[in-house]
Amino acid sequence: MPDSPVQLCRSEDLAELGLAVCFDVAEFGRKTPAFAVRYQGAVHAFLNRCAHVPAEMDWQAGQFWDADKRFLVCSIHGALYQPATGLCVSGPCRGGRLQPIRITEQDGQVCWYPDERIQPLSNPIHP
Ligand code: FES
Repeated sequence: MPDSPVQLCRSEDLAELGLAVCFDVAEFGRKTPAFAVRYQGAVHAFLNRCAHVPAEMDWQAGQFWDADKRFLVCSIHGALYQPATGLCVSGPCRGGRLQPIRITEQDGQVCWYPDERIQPLSNPIHP
């Protein structure tokens, strides 16, 4: 049976090219940061973990856009990621990818879907 969607935020909490909504998930039972942004009208979410070094990417909480607001940027060594796909297009991990989280948006609410890898933090195996 598929996992139920988990409510993340209201649609209005995610402005186009604005601050991300940051949240935590349990990835294989471990608390792991994640984020969601709005890009070209759609919400995209990923684990907050650079493909270069497994570190959080935002230099200030929720700040993931590069100066031109074209790409998601890792503040550590400057890797640039396509916001719709998570593909790294520039930097030391070019060709790598952010780990995506499935998102839906309906009736003004944004939700994410757990899977075999990530679960709500309220159900961690190792809190
Ligand atoms: S840790 Fe992200 S580019 Fe190096």
